[in-house]
Amino acid sequence: MDPLMAVLCLLPLFPGSHCPNPGISVGSVRTGSRFGLGDKVSYRCSSDLVLTGSAVRECQGNGVWSGTEPICRQPYSYDFPEDVAPALGASLSHMLGATNPTQKKKETVGRKIQIQRSGHLNLYLLLDASQSVAEEDFRTFQDSAILMVDRIFSFEINVSVAIITFASKPKIILPIWDKNSRDVTEVISHLDNINYKDHENGTGTNMYEALNSVYTMMNNQIHRLSMDTVTWQEIRHAIILLTDGKSNMGGSPKPAVDSIKEILNINQKRNDYLDIYAIGVGKLDVDWRELNELGSKKDGERHAFILQDTQALYQVFEHMLDVSQLIDTICGVGNMSANASAQERTPWHVTIKPKSQETCRGSLISDQWVLTAAHCFRHADEDRSLWRVNVGDPNSQWGKDFQIEKVVISSEFNVFAKKPQGILEFYADDIALLKLAQKVKMSTHARPICLPCTVGANLALRRPPGSTCREHENELLNKLSVPAHFAALNGDTLNINLKTGMEWASCIEVVSQDKKMFPNLTDVREVVTDQFLCSGTGEDDNPCKGESGGAVFLERRFRFFQVGLVSWGLYNPCSSTNKNSRKKAPRGNVPPPRDFHISLFRLQPWLRQHLEGVLDFLPL
Ligand SMILES: *[C@@H]1O[C@H](CO)[C@@H](O)[C@H](O)[C@H]1NC(C)=O
Ligand SMILES: *[C@@H]1O[C@H](CO)[C@@H](O)[C@H](O)[C@H]1NC(C)=O
Ligand SMILES: *[C@@H]1O[C@H](CO)[C@@H](O)[C@H](O)[C@H]1NC(C)=O
Ligand SMILES: *[C@@H]1O[C@H](CO)[C@@H](O)[C@H](O)[C@H]1NC(C)=O
Ligand SMILES: *[C@@H]1O[C@H](CO)[C@@H](O)[C@H](O)[C@H]1NC(C)=O
Ligand SMILES: [Mg+2]
Repeated sequence: MDPLMAVLCLLPLFPGSHCPNPGISVGSVRTGSRFGLGDKVSYRCSSDLVLTGSAVRECQGNGVWSGTEPICRQPYSYDFPEDVAPALGASLSHMLGATNPTQKKKETVGRKIQIQRSGHLNLYLLLDASQSVAEEDFRTFQDSAILMVDRIFSFEINVSVAIITFASKPKIILPIWDKNSRDVTEVISHLDNINYKDHENGTGTNMYEALNSVYTMMNNQIHRLSMDTVTWQEIRHAIILLTDGKSNMGGSPKPAVDSIKEILNINQKRNDYLDIYAIGVGKLDVDWRELNELGSKKDGERHAFILQDTQALYQVFEHMLDVSQLIDTICGVGNMSANASAQERTPWHVTIKPKSQETCRGSLISDQWVLTAAHCFRHADEDRSLWRVNVGDPNSQWGKDFQIEKVVISSEFNVFAKKPQGILEFYADDIALLKLAQKVKMSTHARPICLPCTVGANLALRRPPGSTCREHENELLNKLSVPAHFAALNGDTLNINLKTGMEWASCIEVVSQDKKMFPNLTDVREVVTDQFLCSGTGEDDNPCKGESGGAVFLERRFRFFQVGLVSWGLYNPCSSTNKNSRKKAPRGNVPPPRDFHISLFRLQPWLRQHLEGVLDFLPL
C-alpha cells in the first residue's frame, strides 16, 4: 500500500456525516454510528448506573444533536454545586438574557444574567407534597423555593411566580395571572404559608396533573388578560419541580408537557422560551430516572439535579450569576460566593491615599463619588493634587488610582471642639466626600454600595416607590443588635453588631472609663452624640486605625447597604503595620473595646446638600 492510501484510510468513513461525533461518555454504551441528517444514536448504562440526559439523540438539520449528552451515574449520588452551577447557569441565563430582544445570544457564553432588561419571565414552582416526600423534606423544598424566588427578584427584573403544591391532586397556591405573583413579598409569604397537610387525603404522586395545572394556568392567563399573541410570545417560562421524581399515578406527564409546548409554540427556534427543571433537594430518596425524564433536554445544558441541602442549592444560584457584563451603576451588588475574592465581595471598598500614603478607607456611592471620614484629612492645607483613591482590587490589575476633582469635608467637623470641657478628641460630623476626576467603569471589582434613603436603595430593598428615609432606617436597623460588617485592611469582611435602643445606651456607657481621653466626663452623650452607631461588644471585631472611613454595611435581600462609616474607637487591634495581624482586646481590658460609626441616617441633611443631582433621595 502506498503511503497516500494509508492516510486516506484514516479519514472519517461517513460521507453523509452531518453532525459531529456525539461521543460516548464513561460507563455508557452507544448504539448507532451514522451521523447523517435524521440518523439516531441511542445510549444505555451498565446495570448499576442510571442514565441522565437523552437516551436517544437525533442528528438535526442545524448540524446539532437533539437532547442532552447522556451521563451514567450512581443512582443515589448528589450533585456538587460547583458542577451544577455552570450547567444550570447556562440554561437560566439563556432564558433571562434573551428576554432582551436587542441582546444577541452568544452560543458559547454560559452564565450571564443581566440585571436591567425588558421582557418578562414566568416562573412556575411545583412542590411535591406526596407521601414519599416527608414533611421535613417538604420544608426543605419550601425553603429552597423561597431562596430561589428571593434571588431571582434581586435583579430588579419583571417576573411572575406561580406556586403549586401537588400529591394525588395539584393545589394552586398562587396563580400566574394573579397580580400578587409579581410581588416578591406576596410570593414569599404564600410560600411560607403552604401547608403540607393540604394533601393528607390524597398522598399519591400525580406528576401529570401537576404539570397539566400549569398548562391550564397558561391557558387562563391568555384569556384573562386577553393577551395578544405578540405579548404572550415574548414571555419566557421556567417550570421548577422540587420533587423526588417518584410518580405513581396519572400516567406519564409527557402529554401535559406536550400541551405546554404547544400553547407556548415551542419549536426549534423558540426552544429558549421554556425550561423545565427537576430538582431534588435534601436527604430524600430520589428517582434519578424520573427526575431526568421530567427535565428539559437541551444541548450542553442540564435540567435535572439532586442537591444535598438548601445551602447547596443557594451556592448553585450564586455561581450561576455573572455580573461581569453589568455596566449599569446598580448599587449594592456584591459576590456572595464563598470562593469570590475579597474585592469581589465588597466592590465598593476603596483606599484613600493623601500624599500617596494609605491613611483611610472609603466607599464608592456612585460611579464618581467616594464617601469617607473627615478626620482622614487633618492636614487640609497639603497639596490635594497628590491625593489618590485606589478603586478596585489593590493587589491586581483590577486596581486603579484615581485623582480627585473635588473634596468636601464637613465644616462642622472639629476634633478639638470640646477640648476645654476635657474631651480631648471629638468626632461628630466625621464625614467627607471625594469626587473622582473620572467616572469609574463598573465591574465585578468596582461598584457602588447602596446608600439608604435613596431611590436606588429603595429598589434594592424592593420597597414601594413612596417610601421614606425613616422607613429605611426602621427596616435596616430593625433589631436591638443588628449584624453588620466592615472591610479590614487586608480586604477581609469582618463582623460587628450595631446596637440600637436600650442596647445602644449600654454600648456607649463604657466610654466614661476611658479616663485618658475623657477625664471628668459626666455625660457620655457629650462624646457619643446620636450621630454615632455603636459596636464592639461580645465577639465583635474591632476596626483598626487605617480602616477609618470605610463602610459599615449590612445585607438585605442579597444586596448591600451602607448604614455608617468607621470613625473612632476605644481600642486599636492592629499595633503594627502588618495588615494581617489583629489582636483581640484582652478580657477585662479597661476601657472595654467599643467602636463608633457615623450614622448615615443622622447625616442626611449634609449628604443631601452635597449629593444633589448625584443620587435621588427619598423624603425624610
Ligand atoms: C471553591 O474553592 C474550593 C477550595 O479552594 C474548591 O475546592 C472549589 O472547587 C471551589 N468552588 C468553585 C465553585 O469554584
Ligand atoms: C417591567 O414592566 C413594566 C410594565 O410592564 C415596564 O414599564 C418596565 O420597564 C419593565 N421593567 C423592566 C426592568 O423590564
Ligand atoms: C381530609 O378528610 C377529612 C375527613 O373527611 C376531613 O375532615 C379533612 O378536612 C380532609 N382534609 C383536607 C385537607 O381536605
Ligand atoms: C462570584 O464569583 C464566583 C467565583 O469567582 C463566580 O463564579 C460567580 O459567577 C460570581 N457571581 C457573581 C454574582 O458575581
Ligand atoms: C476636671 O474637673 C476638675 C474639677 O471639676 C477640674 O479642676 C479640672 O480642671 C477638670 N479637668 C479637665 C481636663 O477639664
Ligand atoms: Mg411521591
